[in-house]
Amino acid sequence: MVLPEEERGGGVFRAPAELLREAHVPSLDKYRELYRRSVEEPQEFWGDIAKEFYWRCRHTGPFLQYNFDVTKGKISIEWMKGATTNICYNLLDRNVYENKLGDKIAFYWEGNEPGDNMKITYSELLCKVCQFANVLQEQGVKKGDRVSIYMPMIIELVIAMLACARIGALHSIVFAGFSAESLCERILDSHCSLLITADAFYRGDKLINLKQIADEALQKCKDKDAPLRRCIVVKHLGREELLSDGPSSQSPPLKRLCQSVQEKKAESSKKGRPKIPWDSEVDVWWHDVMKNASRECEPVWCDAEDELFILYTSGSTGKPKGVVHTIGGYMIFTAATFKYVFDHHPEDIYWCTADIGWITGHSYLTYGPLANGATSILFEGLPIYPDVGRMWSIIDKYKVTKFYTAPTAIRLLMKYGDEPVRKYSRKSLKVLGTVGEPINPEAWLWYYRVVGEERCPIVDTFWQTETGGHVLTPLPAATPMKPGSATFPFFGVVPAVLDEAGEELEGEAEGYLVFKQPWPGIMRTVYKNHQRFETTYFKKFPGYYVTGDGCKRDKDGYYWITGRIDDMLNVSGHLLSTAEVESALVAHSAVAEAAVVSHPHPVKGECLYCFVTLRDGHDFTKNLMEELKKQVREKIGPIATPDYIQHAPGLPKTRSGKIMRRVLRKIAKNDRELGDTSTVADPAVINHLFNNRCETIL
Ligand code: WT7
Repeated sequence: MVLPEEERGGGVFRAPAELLREAHVPSLDKYRELYRRSVEEPQEFWGDIAKEFYWRCRHTGPFLQYNFDVTKGKISIEWMKGATTNICYNLLDRNVYENKLGDKIAFYWEGNEPGDNMKITYSELLCKVCQFANVLQEQGVKKGDRVSIYMPMIIELVIAMLACARIGALHSIVFAGFSAESLCERILDSHCSLLITADAFYRGDKLINLKQIADEALQKCKDKDAPLRRCIVVKHLGREELLSDGPSSQSPPLKRLCQSVQEKKAESSKKGRPKIPWDSEVDVWWHDVMKNASRECEPVWCDAEDELFILYTSGSTGKPKGVVHTIGGYMIFTAATFKYVFDHHPEDIYWCTADIGWITGHSYLTYGPLANGATSILFEGLPIYPDVGRMWSIIDKYKVTKFYTAPTAIRLLMKYGDEPVRKYSRKSLKVLGTVGEPINPEAWLWYYRVVGEERCPIVDTFWQTETGGHVLTPLPAATPMKPGSATFPFFGVVPAVLDEAGEELEGEAEGYLVFKQPWPGIMRTVYKNHQRFETTYFKKFPGYYVTGDGCKRDKDGYYWITGRIDDMLNVSGHLLSTAEVESALVAHSAVAEAAVVSHPHPVKGECLYCFVTLRDGHDFTKNLMEELKKQVREKIGPIATPDYIQHAPGLPKTRSGKIMRRVLRKIAKNDRELGDTSTVADPAVINHLFNNRCETIL
């Protein structure tokens, strides 16, 4: 690593002096010293971090054992194998009993409607988690079983996931924006025996009848003989009805929420209340099963390498991959990254806006913050509902010190100008973060100058569902920032840049971003498909974990992510595979063939531009376009809704019949610099597509 440019004054930003005083890592030299140790002596470095946690038994074998080279055998990664622990115990019991944080707020919940809120302390959370863990056990859920969770952003979601962890069951959380079909596919793939969901919720003005979508998924599962036999439903939208059961049946936080909901009842009843479909053979209400559940539940002690959860992420074949993380490594990695990257201190109020249905919500709303005894905001709503100042109003209301969001949200808010931001004080803010996609320097500078008033460093954290936590990131007080760069590797992470031949490039270079050795939070396998894990991440360049992203390293050693180099695209920070969308389109009876490419979008970063070839006898009408959009929404979910659909009587293909997406991307952008097109079988189709481009977003 060469000295950064800051001495030469070119485009480098530094943290203010106040932040350095208390920082865990106050200088670049200190970062380098710790980094060197983390890579040269991983056992000592991570062993010290592991010491802060409770281990029932210490590891018996080596601290770390791995094979990263497919040519030498099975890929395997084991950290602290043989050690036993329980992650839920470490997040809750340890904080309540050892660290005396029982009365500290774990979460401030802020609902979709301003004024709808509640809070829950560490000891209240522990009590609820124990109760729900007992409920799960009564339902027959055992260590190693899978539980599917399909819920809005409510405290019960955190309770459900930690209750699974307490009894050694694996949670598989499916983002509540996914369709019935996507939920069903995930339930079947992971053989879940139980589903936890909620009645309904509002996203802004829009009512989502979640239970109804869950029922459609369950029906589809039933047709396929799934082992799922129980559905536990939280009464969320209908919470105030619970008051009639008498206040004694309600716990203090729920009572407070009910009161706040009741005060707002007049207002909220203006909105529709859906009818909740019910099958008494399968469905039970959360509040009914919780009523008599004991508040004590002995944690089930698990091996550090036992599976903690499955989280599905898009795969380039179109079928989602069940990414599996294990307990011990994930715990120490999310804890350490949270502490150092957000420079966490006990008095912080931390807010991560991600949904728990994505990995960011797992690692940096649940596991990382709770492992550190942090106080977080759990926000149910949308950034611009009921008005464009909502985010800043929440920051002022709770005096948020550390704020973590996505570039797409920043670009959206930026559109409304500085005034809605400046209306609020934001003086509590100390560190800002971004995640999910490359941030363009304009958005970075706006975030830095307007939101943070040049006082708050920005941590641009690069990572993936697969990496479990941050792998390239600044440390806020130590790393001089360059807008748009995720800067340097986190502790224990060793990046390299490879060329097409798999040679490591030195110094200033551009190529494939890979990692050379495991860090504790790396995924361990694809659920029930280890071979897919090996081929997806380890086959292209033996000896390396391949991220699928391209990157540049500049003369100062800074890393700049240039985006995906596989058939994946990143819409608002969420990965989708082009194949997944294509198969949703061709499932329509009018479509013979479809090709989907990513296209730049001012807010979402990237969006979907679809080319469809119709079957004989079908016309490309407005109506058909609407049907196709609906089809994709139903098959995958609203995040995958196409922005452009162009009729393509023919598609540019190689002589062997491979669709040339490189050419289609250029057509979508109206960029006639096509490069070499000598391999195109029928060049006339290119001209036709250029002449019939889709100019406006649907
Ligand atoms: C892909 C992983 C990690 C949580 C959210 C997304 C892109 C993520 C950055 C960043 C540039 C980024 C990459 C990566 N990405 N963070 N700071 N700068 N690109 O998780 O759905 O697994 O997506 O998101 O392309 O591979 P994911």
